[in-house]
Amino acid sequence: MAGIQRTLFSASRNAIRSQFQRRTLPIVVAAHSSYPRLASTMAPKLKDPSLFKQDVCYVNGEWVKAKSGKTFEVRDPATDKLIGTSPEFDANDTRLAIAAADTAFENFRHLTGRERSKLLRKWYDLMVENHDDLATLVTWENGKPLADAKGEVTYAANFFEWFSEEAPRIYGDTIPSSVPGNRVWTIKEPVGVCGLITPWNFPAAMITRKIGPALAVGCTVVCKSPGETPFTSLALAELAHRAGIPKGVVNIITALDNTPQVGKVLTTDPTVRKISFTGSTPVGKLLMKQCSGTLKKLSLELGGNAPFIVFDDADVDLAVSGAIASKFRSSGQTCVCANRLYVQRGIYDEFAEKFAAKVRDEFKVGNGFDGSVTHGPLIHHRAVAKVDEHVRDAKAKGAKALVGGQKMPDLGPNFYQPTVLTGMTGDMAMASEETFGPVAGLFPFDTEEEVVKLANSTVVGLAGYFFSRDLHRVHRVAEHLEVGMVGVNTGLISDPAAPFGGVKESGFGREGSLYGIGEYQITKMVTYGGMGKPLQK
Ligand code: SIN
Repeated sequence: MAGIQRTLFSASRNAIRSQFQRRTLPIVVAAHSSYPRLASTMAPKLKDPSLFKQDVCYVNGEWVKAKSGKTFEVRDPATDKLIGTSPEFDANDTRLAIAAADTAFENFRHLTGRERSKLLRKWYDLMVENHDDLATLVTWENGKPLADAKGEVTYAANFFEWFSEEAPRIYGDTIPSSVPGNRVWTIKEPVGVCGLITPWNFPAAMITRKIGPALAVGCTVVCKSPGETPFTSLALAELAHRAGIPKGVVNIITALDNTPQVGKVLTTDPTVRKISFTGSTPVGKLLMKQCSGTLKKLSLELGGNAPFIVFDDADVDLAVSGAIASKFRSSGQTCVCANRLYVQRGIYDEFAEKFAAKVRDEFKVGNGFDGSVTHGPLIHHRAVAKVDEHVRDAKAKGAKALVGGQKMPDLGPNFYQPTVLTGMTGDMAMASEETFGPVAGLFPFDTEEEVVKLANSTVVGLAGYFFSRDLHRVHRVAEHLEVGMVGVNTGLISDPAAPFGGVKESGFGREGSLYGIGEYQITKMVTYGGMGKPLQK
């Protein structure tokens, strides 16, 4: 865990530079002076250029274009420049991919666990070998700093490593029957063809977190990668090919405008037996409705609104570091980022000052390929608009910006200053809506009972965090938070070995870990009867 967290957040520690002078309020995070030069010359080079796949998707072991010939443009969020084009798959293209996965399933399901394990391990090894190129693609199309992208690729590869180790260890049970002379056992079988729909915020890791367990148990997949970040997924497909994954087992398809029709086919085609989706709650609900016609197995990892609670008895410096890591990871664009920071009144001012100082002194915003940059752009201007709206709303209702609070047009249209707001109140949009951006609003509270109630006063429940040194409180609060994942005295909880998932309208199902395997299996029960009485001595 510690190793993974180290890699995941290496940017936050290694690339941080004290660029800016301490000033009085409010502080504006300055533009990096070399940015315009970087933006105009930046065309990242891959060590292996054949990993960059344009205008083709990976179906049935082959690189194919959309039948219509249509493509869509993908832009670098840091520079707004064109990266390349990717196929605009439609319903018919998607059906062909499903058919390929269906044909492949008949053989793949019968490989031994050890054989599937070796294939996943080979794919993992190739991800490690091509680590730098994969990270370059992640930074290019997602914008996150290169050190963070490297952390993501390690995290992503670790899902293949983890599930390659699970594949040979898939056991059923023997169950004592209540009927004399009967024997009952269970067989764990792959559910079948799986439709995987993944988000742009982790262009590599959200794909491997789904494909890893699917292949480990013998399923085949059609994976629709996000329109914003298709190239990382297609590089992963190329590595699957090189790893010798049999044709049709892994199919990676892309679409932008056609995403709804591709999603419709995946969720309604009776051949697809399972959908796993990571994304927003409204889209999750729509997909669930669409799946109901064919009653597919479903895993939904949806939006969060994570409470991050700092009690008076916490180690304040540890809490500050935890809040920085949780709130500003990927510039606030993860489902598990702290969204509402509740700080107990006795330490509120101390926490606010130390937290704001770190943001002011140690962050540098800019192009993710600049090695000194700690925080990149947001994914697109719509994300910036939402963040800005939340900040304006909070300020209009009395919040004060200790740091930031503005767009950064001198860097480009997708940049927003990392922001710390104090004086937050329950009537502000940030109290109830997920911001998904680099803005931390600090809400004061008085009692444990009050803050647990506030933390739970939302329809979603993905992650929650709190900092305390009181052991009784640690147990009490961990048990009372209505979330699927709790971080105690840490802001980082992501780990291939740990079950990831939510409750309430954050969805259901668990990814990663031992529990992630079951999401792609059915449990078949066998009753063997008529054995008669036990042998007599
Ligand atoms: C997510 O934002 O959906 C995933 C975050 C993680 O795996 O840490």
